[in-house]
Amino acid sequence: MTEQQTRPIEARSMGTDLRRVDGVEKVTGRATYAFEHAASDGLADPLHLWLVQSTVAKGRVVDVDGHAALEHAGVVAVIDHTTAPRLDDTTNGELAILQDGAVHFRGQIVALVLAETPEAAREGAALVHVRYDAEPHEAELREDNATYEPDEVNAGQATDTAEGDVDAALAAADVVVDATYRTPYEHNNPIEPHATLAWWGEEDGRPTLTMYDSTQGVHGVVQSLFPMLGLEPDQVRVRAPYVGGGFGSKGEAHAHVMAAALAARTTDGRPVKLAVTRQQMFALTGYRTATISHLRLGARPDGTLTAIEHAVQEQTSAVREYAEQSASPTRMMYAAENRRTSHRLARLDVAVPSWMRAPGEMPGMVALEIAMDELAVAAGVDPIDLRVRNEPEVDPETGKPFNDRRLIECLRRGADRFGWAGRPTEPRATVDGDWWVGTGVASSTYPAMRMPGNAARVRSLDDGRYAVAIGAVDIGTGARTVLTQIAADALGVEADAIALEIADSSLPPASVAGGSSGTSSWGTAIVAAAQRFRADHGDTPDPGVETTASAADDPAMKEYAFHSFGAVFAETRVHRWTGEIRVPRMLGVYSVGRVVNPTTARSQLLGGLVMGLSAALFEESYRDARFGHVVTQDLATYHVASHADVLGIEAEWLEESDDRFNPMGSRGIGEIGIVGTAAAVANAAYHATGVRVRSLPVTADHFL
Ligand code: MOS
Repeated sequence: MTEQQTRPIEARSMGTDLRRVDGVEKVTGRATYAFEHAASDGLADPLHLWLVQSTVAKGRVVDVDGHAALEHAGVVAVIDHTTAPRLDDTTNGELAILQDGAVHFRGQIVALVLAETPEAAREGAALVHVRYDAEPHEAELREDNATYEPDEVNAGQATDTAEGDVDAALAAADVVVDATYRTPYEHNNPIEPHATLAWWGEEDGRPTLTMYDSTQGVHGVVQSLFPMLGLEPDQVRVRAPYVGGGFGSKGEAHAHVMAAALAARTTDGRPVKLAVTRQQMFALTGYRTATISHLRLGARPDGTLTAIEHAVQEQTSAVREYAEQSASPTRMMYAAENRRTSHRLARLDVAVPSWMRAPGEMPGMVALEIAMDELAVAAGVDPIDLRVRNEPEVDPETGKPFNDRRLIECLRRGADRFGWAGRPTEPRATVDGDWWVGTGVASSTYPAMRMPGNAARVRSLDDGRYAVAIGAVDIGTGARTVLTQIAADALGVEADAIALEIADSSLPPASVAGGSSGTSSWGTAIVAAAQRFRADHGDTPDPGVETTASAADDPAMKEYAFHSFGAVFAETRVHRWTGEIRVPRMLGVYSVGRVVNPTTARSQLLGGLVMGLSAALFEESYRDARFGHVVTQDLATYHVASHADVLGIEAEWLEESDDRFNPMGSRGIGEIGIVGTAAAVANAAYHATGVRVRSLPVTADHFL
């Protein structure tokens, strides 16, 4: 495979509203999701898998009695830690299931039941009798137990940072905000729960594992599984042609994927189907940790910041470390000579936290952006003026220039569109019938990331079209469509001349559909392959020639701090007698580089805004620390925003092209919509009522 230096491509298909190329398949029900594969793939006669989960939070499994289950009609096997296939590598404690009897959290997989039907598997699982030696557990995140200092936090970022003398600056500050902000546990709830179909075979005398998995990254699943199963990468193949959302929970393989692989190892090649239930997702497929943010801001009388301190406390699990980088946006948002950030964890006997849309930025910016609103009030400065006043010239921490920081333009354009001028300075100034009315604003940001290790293949077809292949996954975002547009522009052809192949780990390597990095990472590889192909074969190639290429390192990536920015405005109404809170209007204005497809981009940004609204008003996973698990395990008790909650939401973006960042000029749009949004709602609720809410969700009881 060659490496190719890329050049910017001309936008011809990019920027147009190309209809979703898989739209018809999806709305006609022909798009096949992980659990639905079987007969159509020559996989008749699958066995069904059900997961048996621990009912204690810590201890040991003493005995798994499967007799009653095995007598139940249709049940084929009960697998426990004494009978499960052995793994070669157990470093990843989340995936190394059934290797010993240790229980690390309530809901952990302690046995597997295989049966001829899903019903029999479920009934069989209920008949498995597990005896435990339970030990005392700790499942509550508190300020006094979140003291463990990880070596680093997510994405290899520093645990702590410090510059200047924060304490001296705070002592000398004219205006100080010193407050603690909390965000709750939240669970990713994609519309399609996790599902895996797995079967083992043999090729050239070596075992093979093939899967359909509902995942955000097929190559990532291969990379996680192969060493543990004692295989080479080419012995594992994972496909994910259609995925019904993930929000990070499908960003890496979780324990259920290993459960399907291990169970299928025992069936002589019969496929095994596993559908994780919505309830099981609340223990097995990741979630956003709760966070406690202690923020101290020091400023001059006009609101100019002199010191920022952000100390984060959150949790990880006993079985695997996860450290949410919640203070990371505080390191780059605003100028201040003195700055200190830190992360401390509580290692609890709980399920493994993981990525949920904008991990780090989302909870961190809730704290920082409510604190900034408090500073605006304390200094008597308009919240937009305050942010303008604290705009840094370069990335405060690295000293690198920003690629193209247009936060102020987003704030000003949003203010204009939203009707910010003439907003009453004092809270509790506007009443409409029985409703207090207020408006609020918050900044948004998300790093622009291009992942290494991506490659693409271009092949000329007999009919003059091009097959373009990369193992990327479209989790519903529109990746199939925008990659088609990028490939068309890179090859200088119409979109209908592109036959795109994705979602298969046998295709060239692609990074995860996560971190808002997909389009940038995969698109750059496609452009590299297309430009190499045109250099080698010209624009009228013989049929059947092909080129595989990856993008060469780009020096600009190290020279600049690449971020997207946005401004979110909200109108919040609080009922003066009941405390009911409604958000009739929200507006997000974003600087995200070139928008490749306005329809799919708007959908991503609106989706992020809705998820931020949902976090502001509803989402909270309630953990009962006595038993260690989350009790709100379905969409009836874990509330997400419904249609009736979403009133007027608009998203728009600045016209731009970020030609330093990648050859498309785009950045990323999957996550920025959720960042800052809950703070805008909370700030508007303060403006409406004069009640400052420093924890999510912002519920009625705060106002009574
Ligand atoms: Mo997103 S939480 O990076 O899938």
